[in-house]
Amino acid sequence: MRKVRKALIPAAGLGTRFLPATKTIPKEMLPVVDQPILLYVIEEAVRAGIEDIILVAGRGKHAIEDFFDRSYEVEDQLLKSGRKDLLERIVRIRDMANIISIRQKEALGLGHAVYCGHPVIGDEDFAVLLGDEIMHTEKDEPTVIAQLSQIFSETGLSTVAIMEVAAAEVEKYGIIAGEKTAAGYFKITDVVEKPARHLAPSRNALPGRYVFTSKIFDSLKNAKPGKNGEIQLTDAMAAIAKSEGMIGAYFKANRYDAGDKLGYLQANIEFALMREDLGPQLKAYLKELAAKL
Ligand code: G1P
Repeated sequence: MRKVRKALIPAAGLGTRFLPATKTIPKEMLPVVDQPILLYVIEEAVRAGIEDIILVAGRGKHAIEDFFDRSYEVEDQLLKSGRKDLLERIVRIRDMANIISIRQKEALGLGHAVYCGHPVIGDEDFAVLLGDEIMHTEKDEPTVIAQLSQIFSETGLSTVAIMEVAAAEVEKYGIIAGEKTAAGYFKITDVVEKPARHLAPSRNALPGRYVFTSKIFDSLKNAKPGKNGEIQLTDAMAAIAKSEGMIGAYFKANRYDAGDKLGYLQANIEFALMREDLGPQLKAYLKELAAKL
């Protein structure tokens, strides 16, 4: 049984869609209710048994690093004011995983960001989680990375999450070509980055959750700029699919595209509705509001 212990999270994007909010803070640090998007993503990995989190960040790296560091001032304040609940939450965050931070010096694309993790990951299997998406699963259900890791441990093949999107949406995602197996997975034969609708090999899109063998680094090492002049992760995936083999699997989770303004607002509302301390009041307010619209 192969166990995935490391996860890489690229957090180097410019966050243009959320300007001006993201002028000084990275988009991954924007809050959904009261915790940054990045923390939801890390919690997903940690719940899957991941021990080391490799954050690949460009600008805004310090805000991210500070978040996982001890803040004497905040902790002291909480201790003195007797806010034990909040203090415990803060301490839990800095102790939840080994956070290893790497600087991506140039924004050369997602493939390049993943390759920046090579010195830390070496020849180990690892997961990649894109910080734009929050995947919500109930506490007693496996997270998306846990679902992929399970298939990976059974097959030994790189396994990536897929979801069916509308034809009009294919140009926003990496799209796979593949054959459905008896086990219900897809044996991936090709991966195309953001194809035009008429060129898409399917409507099975990559939502940004992957488990890879370290072979992906060999492909990334020699990768040439692809779509939009960027080093694309999907191009390296296509090479692995054609050599070692790769599996695409549908996942069970509620997905929030927090990298999109509407998706971000929806995530805030739905996560707040799930909270005991906010849900009932927010629900009453939303009903009142809806009656007026
Ligand atoms: C990236 C990947 C793409 C994937 C998408 C998921 O694109 O390149 O293959 O489907 O994330 O969000 P981006 O959205 O960063 O342009």
